This record gives sequence, C-alpha cells and structure tokens, in this order.
Amino acid sequence: MLEHIGITNFKAFAHQDIALAPFTLLTGLNSSGKSTVLQSLALLRQSHGLLHLYDDSGGFLLNGELVELGTGQDVRHDTYVRHESATGDARSITLAVTSDGTRYAWSAAYGREDDLLRMTDCPMGPDAHDADECSLFQPGFQYLKADRIVPAVSYPRSHQAAVGRGFLGSRGEHTVNFLRAHQDDLVAAGPLRLDDTRSASLLSQTDAWMQRLCPGVNLQAVGIDGTDSVRLSYGFGSGISASNRYRPTNVGFGLTYALPIVVACLSAQPGALILLENPEAHLHPQGQTWLAYLAVAAVAAGAQVIVETHSDHVLNGLRIAVKDGRIPAASTAVHFFRRHEQTAEVISPVMGEDGMLSEWPTGFFDEWENSLEKLLD
Ligand SMILES: Nc1ncnc2c1ncn2[C@@H]1O[C@H](COP(=O)(O)OP(=O)(O)OP(=O)(O)O)[C@@H](O)[C@H]1O
Ligand SMILES: [Mg+2]
Repeated sequence: MLEHIGITNFKAFAHQDIALAPFTLLTGLNSSGKSTVLQSLALLRQSHGLLHLYDDSGGFLLNGELVELGTGQDVRHDTYVRHESATGDARSITLAVTSDGTRYAWSAAYGREDDLLRMTDCPMGPDAHDADECSLFQPGFQYLKADRIVPAVSYPRSHQAAVGRGFLGSRGEHTVNFLRAHQDDLVAAGPLRLDDTRSASLLSQTDAWMQRLCPGVNLQAVGIDGTDSVRLSYGFGSGISASNRYRPTNVGFGLTYALPIVVACLSAQPGALILLENPEAHLHPQGQTWLAYLAVAAVAAGAQVIVETHSDHVLNGLRIAVKDGRIPAASTAVHFFRRHEQTAEVISPVMGEDGMLSEWPTGFFDEWENSLEKLLD
C-alpha cells in the first residue's frame, strides 16, 4: 500500500507531502491540485521501466497511456523551489512515494521542450529492481479520469488491454470489453457482493450495484461479429415484464458514466490501486452515496482507493461507513485543497470512529450551510 506521496516542483505544487490511506479522499476548490496528485502517480506508473535508466532513454514519460501532460514547461511548477528533499539541480522535478514502509524517489531534470524528462542522479531512491516491489507498479492498477466514456453504440475490443492486462482504460474505454470477457469471474467474497440470493459473478454483481443507481436495470456486454467492437445494452425488469434491450444512448448518461467505476471496484483484488476522479459525475445524490459504499467495499477486499470528489454524498458515504464499522477511521485520509498564492495548500481533517471530522475549514463542504443561512435569513 502507498502510505505517502511527496511532490516537488510538479504542476500545482512547489512542494507538498500528502499522507495516503487505504481510502484517501481528495477534495477542494476547482483548480486546486487534486488531479495533480493523481497525475503524479499516473506519471510514475506510465514511466515504469524508464525510471532506472539514467541515459537518454530513461525519465518521466509525460505523454502516454495514462496521462498526456505536454512538455517540461507544462509540468514544472512555475515558481519552482529548491526544497531540501529535492536532489540535484534546483530545477528538477521530484516525485517520491512510500510503499509498505520503503521510500522511493525519482528526480528528473527540467527540459523546457522535452516530453521525456531525463532522470537525474537520485541517491535516496532505490535502484529499479527494488522499485518493482513498489505497490504503484503492481497488477490491478486502475486510473479513471473525470472525462470518461459516454453512452455509445459500440466500444473498442482490445484483447491486450482489457483481457491481457485487465486495464479498463483511463477513460474506462475498455470497460465493456472487460465485462464481456470477465463476466463470469467471481467477485471477491465480502461486502463487494450484494444480495446473497444472486450469483457472485462480475456481471450479476455489476447488475446488483447498478440497480442501486437505477432499480431494475441489467446489463449485457457482447462482441459484434466481424468487428473489433463490443456492444453494451441495458434491460429493465425480468421475466414476462422484461423490457427490450436498449442501447446506451437511449438510457440516459449516468449509468454508462458510472459503469467503469463500478467495474473497477468490483474487480478489485488485494493490492490493487484504484484512482478515481469524480466518481459522482452525473449521478443522483443517493447513487453518489452508494458509490462511496462500493469504494469502501473495494478497500475491504484489499484494494487501495484514492478518490477525487466534489460530492458531499461521497464524503458522507465514507463517514457513515466508518461509523458503521465497515472501514476503520484509521484507514481513511481526507485532504482539502485550496490555492494559496501561486501554489496549493492542503488541510487534512482527521476522521473519528464516529465518522466526525476534526475540523471544517472554510470552503470544505460548507455550501449547504451557507445556503441554508441565506434561506432562513
Ligand atoms: N506548471 C504549473 N505551474 C504551476 N501551477 C500549475 C502548473 N500546471 C498547472 N498548475 C496549476 O494546477 C492547478 C490545476 O490543478 P488540478 O488539475 O490538480 O486541479 P483540480 O483540483 O483537480 O481541479 P478540479 O476540481 O477542477 O478537477 C491550477 O491552479 C493550475 O494553475
Ligand atoms: Mg481534478
């Protein structure tokens, strides 16, 4: 499990240390650095294999399968600093993680036009062979960005991504093919399985969780003969009252948008790392709470989840899960981001076993109260 990330001279941060827990919730104002945290992890992950090469072929790969960040000028923090933990050249970008008690750090030199930032000598980092142990590089990694698949008539059928690597795609674009190929896989026993009377298969449990968002819905994911595409369809009801199959474009936006999140959590294995941006997007409030419960269940199954969210309901879902004993308070971390001059600042309220938070900084889920005050005035 990742216990910490340190970010120096990267995008929104001059220098920032952030504690990570089995369930980490990142929230705060727009453009305050939340996605930068997830991107720094994704950048390391997509650079794996290049991080130990100190010649021209190694470095931070800025544009790849997970993130497309541009060039050195785009990613180096504007008002770069030489932080005491940074090594080498003051203009370098350093990303460090602690995984299962071991600290790993990588520094790359600034190259204004470069999209592969060369590694600088990094005495505090272990060599590449040690880094292979880091939980960031283990199988089961999923990173689902805010911008995900929308309802469509068909989706890609990539054997390599969905079947070979079990990767849903950073936009969830391989989710439907993953569901087609893995529909009979068993969901881990425990809280990820809803409803004892139904099958524990991935498809059946996907239906069960999707029914928390939309009662009665069920899914089918099938290949389209003679093409490299797969088709998703929705049905409603069962038996003689079952509807026809509907294409995603005819059943609204929220179900398809949430599907990659649901499948990522349900297919989580122990040791998996799941990064989720705005899982609440396009869902009604109760569905947002259920997604928090689902992410908590993935943590109970042994995954680590880091969620960026603007949703009170996701936060409250986590608080209720703590209060109900579904996840210990010590397994949670909440970070509130806001801009401070040219850089981001992070405040970290601590959750108690009763789901209560140690502090409520201004701007931290206080809009309901602000509005109520105006209404009652
Ligand atoms: N090279 C850079 N130097 C300094 N700041 C940067 C740099 N690149 C991006 N930023 C800053 O990073 C911030 C954007 O951060 P990020 O994308 O993490 O936002 P976010 O908190 O995820 O926002 P949202 O809630 O809208 O998703 C902006 O304030 C932007 O000014
Ligand atoms: Mg963001």
